[in-house]
Amino acid sequence: MTIRLGINIDHVATLRNARGGEHPCPVRAAMIAQSAGADSITAHLREDRRHIRDHDIDRLRAEVPLPLNLEMAMTGEMMDIALRVKPHAVCIVPERREELTTEGGLDAVKYQKQLRPFVHKLQESGIRVSLFIEPMHEQLHAAKHIGARAVELHTGRYCHLLGKARADEFAKISEAAILGHALGLEVHAGHGLNYENVGAIAAIPEIIELNIGHFLMGESLFTGLADAIHQMRKKMDDARKKPGSARQA
Ligand code: PXP
Repeated sequence: MTIRLGINIDHVATLRNARGGEHPCPVRAAMIAQSAGADSITAHLREDRRHIRDHDIDRLRAEVPLPLNLEMAMTGEMMDIALRVKPHAVCIVPERREELTTEGGLDAVKYQKQLRPFVHKLQESGIRVSLFIEPMHEQLHAAKHIGARAVELHTGRYCHLLGKARADEFAKISEAAILGHALGLEVHAGHGLNYENVGAIAAIPEIIELNIGHFLMGESLFTGLADAIHQMRKKMDDARKKPGSARQA
């Protein structure tokens, strides 16, 4: 089964906001991503609007043919925006103002009671919901209980670790993917992925979507966005095809 690539364009907006004005434009980045073979566009509308802003979401929805995956926190404000914009998908993430990026998975066990009606309301309106969680069995069971269609496994820790700790974290991701698939959840993964570490994750057969942003935006300064996406796509597809490559960090 092929693996989908979602391109997170938040940091095009980060660069734009550094000077104000309209350049560089996240919508233009999304159109280039589409031409380069991306399957979807991911954008995180944060409470503090530090990168993506409301009008970016409106424009991405209206002007870009690719499915939009809106990353957002579980708040009433974000629910209203999602129901108005109707993206293809919503990924619910934890959010703290002081963090540099999403620093850990959502605690689906702790917030089950609040997440259940939140997820149902979105899914009833036709939006596919994923929960961004740590690769832990109890989190996957909670996601299933909540009724989310999908989970996104947090790969950030795996990407930063080395040696045995990295292999152990990889084993957790691989096992979580197997369990998620067995529970009937769509299994996605993301955070911290780059050319060097994407192959092992892409080779896990139960994972059907990766969402990648920061590395690709940085790399595109040197080789261009389309080239960076092509190279990432090729590494994912090659890893997927290689027999016996799965389950190895
Ligand atoms: N998935 C989720 C839920 C995220 O919050 C992020 C970062 O915004 C990503 C994927 C992409 O991570 P990165 O920018 O490190 O590739």
